[in-house]
Amino acid sequence: MHHHARLIFCIYIFSWSINLFLFLVETGSRSGWFRTPDLKQSARLGLPEYTMRRVVRQSKFRHVFGQAVKNDQCYDDIRVSRVTWDSSFCAVNPRFVAIIIEASGGGAFLVLPLHKTGRIDKSYPTVCGHTGPVLDIDWCPHNDQVIASGSEDCTVMVWQIPENGLTLSLTEPVVVLEGHSKRVGIVAWHPTARNVLLSAGCDNAIIIWNVGTGEALINLDDMHSDMIYNVSWNRNGSLICTASKDKKVRVIDPRKQEIVAEKEKAHEGARPMRAIFLADGNVFTTGFSRMSERQLALWNPKNMQEPIALHEMDTSNGVLLPFYDPDTSIIYLCGKGDSSIRYFEITDESPYVHYLNTFSSKEPQRGMGYMPKRGLDVNKCEIARFFKLHERKCEPIIMTVPRKSDLFQDDLYPDTAGPEAALEAEEWFEGKNADPILISLKHGYIPGKNRDLKVVKKNILDSKPTANKKCDLINVPKKTTDVASVQNEAKLDEILKEIKSIKDTICNQDERISKLEQQMAKIAA
Ligand SMILES: *[C@@H]1O[C@H](CO)[C@@H](O)[C@H](O)[C@H]1NC(C)=O
Ligand SMILES: *[C@@H]1O[C@H](CO)[C@@H](O)[C@H](O)[C@H]1NC(C)=O
Repeated sequence: MHHHARLIFCIYIFSWSINLFLFLVETGSRSGWFRTPDLKQSARLGLPEYTMRRVVRQSKFRHVFGQAVKNDQCYDDIRVSRVTWDSSFCAVNPRFVAIIIEASGGGAFLVLPLHKTGRIDKSYPTVCGHTGPVLDIDWCPHNDQVIASGSEDCTVMVWQIPENGLTLSLTEPVVVLEGHSKRVGIVAWHPTARNVLLSAGCDNAIIIWNVGTGEALINLDDMHSDMIYNVSWNRNGSLICTASKDKKVRVIDPRKQEIVAEKEKAHEGARPMRAIFLADGNVFTTGFSRMSERQLALWNPKNMQEPIALHEMDTSNGVLLPFYDPDTSIIYLCGKGDSSIRYFEITDESPYVHYLNTFSSKEPQRGMGYMPKRGLDVNKCEIARFFKLHERKCEPIIMTVPRKSDLFQDDLYPDTAGPEAALEAEEWFEGKNADPILISLKHGYIPGKNRDLKVVKKNILDSKPTANKKCDLINVPKKTTDVASVQNEAKLDEILKEIKSIKDTICNQDERISKLEQQMAKIAA
């Protein structure tokens, strides 16, 4: 009996000393005792040291758990685009999922109402007004029926989707934004100002448009000497950061047309980088080391000399696409071609980037969509939803925090960015800034009515960013600005009309071919 009690006491003391030891290690690393001289917090994920930190740190997101939905809740039979471009190919909002697909005779993407799961008919209508492959799409954060697309045809187009989705293919955008001289690989709406859209092209230029007037108001064409891989707005849209093939990360004030901060060789490897702004103003990057290891890093734009944290992950070669939730401060990393999603919590305590967990599956992802917070199911404690693109389907993946209670978990759902724009485009161009207007998710989010996007064209010919750049794709219609005479304009109009009508024909024929192919398949089967 006596003996037994002593043993228990010994075990107690032993476990207590382990805890004390772990505490000392944690405090030690926090206060810098164990730091390497160059302050880099380099940790290879998965090593015991890393696991040890996890044991000590408390986080309500440690048990976030990912699960793919059942087969019948996937979107099936979709020919996902094979174009060689590292965008996510998929954009999601609380009403629709949009997916860039393979298309003959131009570029196209699908827009499916969220509930339209199951097999997608080959003849399902598409958005197909581009004359070259679509490279990137982005839903307007302030209007769930408006989506922008950038294409190999050097244009940006903005589309209005009918409230219940498409019943006919859409060939006519609300507005065509022309100004890039090479393919447009990136489109990104301003987070808080209505109708402000950014595009970046392989001409290494960034153009910021007032979509409401069709004008290109800011043209940053002398800041990047090489291809732009990624652009991200900060929380209130006063700054952008970019990752470029020249291995630099730049923080830019677009209205002053000024580089505020930059880091050369943010990652030393030659493969693509990503850079996104976090809510606190820091910049998170992914890239490759000189030895081709995948890295993640955190930077303070006020001092870009050394990273706040730098982690090496593994030696896979897919680009790591970061998806960030400012409300929970979680970053999800989806490697293109990987079959897993790794997630990390960012805090202001060492090691700053805390590994949480990995969602693994068997099949590799060709692209990924990410639902805005207001589109999640708060009753299921869902904190993120991904739309994973396979070769021929799109599979939602749901991340939840296991909780026993049925009540609204307000610690998981701080007020989040709502659909209302905080500023008008004009106010932003004049220099105003504003944070997103927040909404509570306490009673869930019900998509409201959206107003139609109206474009009131000013004299666009006067406001084209750079006169007469030629697109390097031959078959692309291009309004040229040096043709100022009214006569020529009329001629141009005529030509454009004809091109438009031919495009429509191609779209229709494409659908007809699909239908016939289906009939043929049925007969053959
Ligand atoms: C930057 O990369 C992230 C991750 O791929 C993506 O979510 C974001 O849309 C990208 N931004 C642009 C403008 O392409
Ligand atoms: C917008 O963000 C910048 C950078 O974080 C900050 O300096 C500025 O004060 C913010 N402006 C407003 C109006 O919130």
